Amino acid sequence: LNVDASSSSGSPIPDTFFGIFFEEINHAGAGGLWAELVSNKGFEAGGPNTPSNIDPWAIIGSASHINVETDRTSLFDRNKIALRLEVLCNTTGDNICPAGGVGVYNPGFWGMNIEQGKKYKVVFFVRSTGSVNLAVSLTGSNGVGSLASAKITGSASDVSNWTKVETILEAKATDHNARLQLTTTTEGVIWLDQVSAMPQDTYKQHGFQTDLYGMLANMKPRFIRFPGGCFVEGERLRNAFRWNKTVGPWEERPGHFGDVWMYWTDDGLGYFEFLQLAEDLGALPIWVFNSGISHQEQVNTTAVLPFVQEALDGIEFARGDATSKWGSLRAAMGHPEPFDLKYVAVGNEDCEKKNYRGNYLKFYSAIRSAYPDIQIISNCDASSQPLDHPADLYDYHVYTNANNLFARATVFDRASRSGPKAFVSEYAVIGTDAGTGSLKAALAEAGFLIGLERNSDVVHMISYAPLFVNTNDRRFVCVFVLRWNPDAIVFNSYQLYGTPSYWVQLFFWESSGATLLKASLQSTLSNSLTASAITWKNPVDGNNYIRIKVVNFDANTVNLHISFDGLDPNTVHLSGSSKTLLTSSSLTDENSLSQPNKVVPIQSLLQSVGREVNVVVPPY
Ligand code: AHR
Repeated sequence: LNVDASSSSGSPIPDTFFGIFFEEINHAGAGGLWAELVSNKGFEAGGPNTPSNIDPWAIIGSASHINVETDRTSLFDRNKIALRLEVLCNTTGDNICPAGGVGVYNPGFWGMNIEQGKKYKVVFFVRSTGSVNLAVSLTGSNGVGSLASAKITGSASDVSNWTKVETILEAKATDHNARLQLTTTTEGVIWLDQVSAMPQDTYKQHGFQTDLYGMLANMKPRFIRFPGGCFVEGERLRNAFRWNKTVGPWEERPGHFGDVWMYWTDDGLGYFEFLQLAEDLGALPIWVFNSGISHQEQVNTTAVLPFVQEALDGIEFARGDATSKWGSLRAAMGHPEPFDLKYVAVGNEDCEKKNYRGNYLKFYSAIRSAYPDIQIISNCDASSQPLDHPADLYDYHVYTNANNLFARATVFDRASRSGPKAFVSEYAVIGTDAGTGSLKAALAEAGFLIGLERNSDVVHMISYAPLFVNTNDRRFVCVFVLRWNPDAIVFNSYQLYGTPSYWVQLFFWESSGATLLKASLQSTLSNSLTASAITWKNPVDGNNYIRIKVVNFDANTVNLHISFDGLDPNTVHLSGSSKTLLTSSSLTDENSLSQPNKVVPIQSLLQSVGREVNVVVPPY
């Protein structure tokens, strides 16, 4: 491998090159990154009709002690369902309540992770025809063993109208499979609504689960595309993610059923929180909005204007000043400064839909004229032929087997050098090669990424998909319900790990804003060996480094001889160079909750680095 390291030989890699794509899929957000512990906190998930299914809430107590049903008496207009508890037992008289009382419990998303010494903020709304005397407690999964509890009392006059209750519970023991209980031993009728429990310790108190957030921060993403994916489209338009139903106070949000990935979200992780997440990560937000098209429905271009207005309103929410209609709502939510929204994508994977082009052009001209600086992303792939409509970037998605993805490293060699740039916003090896996240998949992806890096004059952004999976959501649900494998970050209520594909991505964060060096590989192994070289400035020490990335996608060892041209011996430090290796004994090796570090990068010092370097690159 010959690397021309002279300053004149390189070409700039875009600052935005490497980022992440967050979709609400596999309980990535609800039951994942969003730290809310209660699932279905407003009892809305069963739909607006009563009686409504309150799953996963369940009743504590028998029918002779308590009668629980939903009604439509909520304080909040956009989520009218509330829970009515008619308590028939008491501490005295004929019908004595069982020890521990009667009421309801919520097991969260497959069990709540409650940790000793940590504090949890429980908030709920209550109303009653009499006084209330409630125990709010965190317990083991079967209701036994109190981890933390508080008594909530209120006289009849206190709670005759809906009243907001807040309490902090400090856990005195750890249970990864805990539940939240609200119980009483006082006869009467109580209504509950919008019951939330959050750990006090979330990233910057912004609601992001700290460990999962940390996995994202490690990737140093320059952008975050959100919130989907198919989640943006919906099977039916009525179930698509619509930004304006996910902002404002959390208790007023209606929530919605994501009918592609088939689960309910309370939308605590809404549009505002996605923008906040981007800002916290130091990443540019890339907002994907619905183009008036779902998997099964298409709005006619003549009728798409309400969707266009919704997109313009969403941009105003992010960028408008605090006196604008939507900017003022953002300010009221605690963020008077605008968010740095510079990229929007019109729909997801909709290019082949009949109405896409017509709809797209309506969005394009309205956004271009109101916000000329916003970069607009089309769903239509222009890697092999020019677009027939204006765009700043075009989406490129690829999910395939390992050999095919490795071979696609050259796909952008042939792309037009003029016109819109490529946003490889979803890529991954899938199928048997990938399992639930294999070394083989990661190697093929690494080869593909090297090809993208070598084409970074036309490829401006890349992100893997999907990002997260809650292992509990990997189970087979029914024949129509798809669960997506593999995913970069795997977690349950208290454990997590990165797949090899996650670790491969960490080899690329340095590339954003770096300089691509000319690097030519002389080898007979062109189908299995690929390499790139960059020079980049480390913000920590201010020094420039050269990083060479090599993928050996073959069963044989490669003895790689690397030579450098153009290095100035007076300014270059040759000692202290290092090698980082990601491999394993078998191509099918994966990480797991029990072996989270089986396939992870290992760093070691490179001995005697000079203008000529010999590096042994082991198989795979
Ligand atoms: O990443 C999973 C899904 O794959 C996305 O929702 C969709 O855009 C693609 O088909």
